[in-house]
Amino acid sequence: IFTRNFSSSSPLNVIKTVTVIGGGLMGSGIAQVTAQAGQNVTIVDLQPELLEKAQKSIQNNLTRVAKKTFKDDAAKIENFVKDAASRIKTSTKVEDAVNADLIIEAIVEKLDVKQQLFNKLDQLAPEHTILATNTSSISINAIGAGIKRKDRYGGLHFFNPVPVMRLLEVIRGDHISDATYQTLMEWGKSVGKTCITCKDTPGFVVNRLLAPYSAEAMRLYERGDASKEDIDIGMKLGAGYPMGPFELADYTGLDTNRFVMQVMYEMTKNPVFKPIPLLDKMVAEGKLGIKTGEGFYKYN
Ligand code: CAA
Ligand code: NAD
Repeated sequence: IFTRNFSSSSPLNVIKTVTVIGGGLMGSGIAQVTAQAGQNVTIVDLQPELLEKAQKSIQNNLTRVAKKTFKDDAAKIENFVKDAASRIKTSTKVEDAVNADLIIEAIVEKLDVKQQLFNKLDQLAPEHTILATNTSSISINAIGAGIKRKDRYGGLHFFNPVPVMRLLEVIRGDHISDATYQTLMEWGKSVGKTCITCKDTPGFVVNRLLAPYSAEAMRLYERGDASKEDIDIGMKLGAGYPMGPFELADYTGLDTNRFVMQVMYEMTKNPVFKPIPLLDKMVAEGKLGIKTGEGFYKYN
């Protein structure tokens, strides 16, 4: 593996083994679709308990997918889940998991933490390994600023819930080679996603449009112009969205929403992304949405 030739003019690299760093909401979904597609995947997280949680959630979601595909055929459902789960390994050490064709980072949304991880991966991973980040708002050029293999580095931005949402944004940094970009597009297709090409611009495509929408909804509610319930109903029944903006904010996490808006404000200076007092207050109170049991709505 260490001697495999991979230069910008080489033919497409075929991804057979993947490592996902961070086994949270996004990382576990990315690992699931990878395993479902017949590829071997290793999930890395900080503690064994977090890895167990990721495996449990993957098991549940694989069962949902299997039930949908195989209806009442219990044997086929069991086989599908077993087969996909058998391709997933876990580790608490990045060092033990770098031997992969593609490494996708899905850890906490903090620039310095991501940079440190990429610098380490760049040093430890085999020459041919492509590195990718699932960041939702940080510049991918900034995250990869310290790595040497800039031609083998890009953004793979998935959407929550990963097993259901069919889109993958493939982000081209300043130095990505055409071969790497094509490999990432092909890999996205291989895990069942429709890929779109994005530049390294704030929020890429989808969050650039979703974030102002979400901010405007919160301001509308904060001003007392409409109730959150009515705003949610309005967007579901009037615009055909599957969730209203408050249901979606609770689903993606209010801390994530706040962070995305902060970064977008720093990058664009668009006043729509200025701090929203209501959002700041809710995050400070730990009301982060479904994951903490309360956000704009309460959950059991
Ligand atoms: N894994 C596997 N299958 C899942 C799943 C999961 N995690 N979550 C839901 N499903 C499946 C269900 O089994 C169900 O399948 P059937 O239709 O065959 O029954 C189907 O998806 C629908 O699920 P539910 O019936 O439970 O609920 P729903 O109809 O309300 O759909 C939803 C749930 C798919 C989440 C839908 O409400 C939706 O699309 N919401 C919008 C999500 C969205 O906008 N995501 C993007 C967020 S932005 C982002 O991710 C980017 C960022 O950087 C922050
Ligand atoms: P999460 O908090 O659910 O998961 C992050 C996981 O990374 C945690 O399990 C944590 O223990 C682990 N982790 C943190 N630092 C680590 C390290 N140094 N090494 C290994 N593991 C580490 O977060 P998430 O929602 O899955 O988000 C992950 C990334 O995906 C972020 O960059 C986020 O912006 C992006 N993203 C999130 C969404 C969303 O809707 N939540 C959508 C698209 C992209």
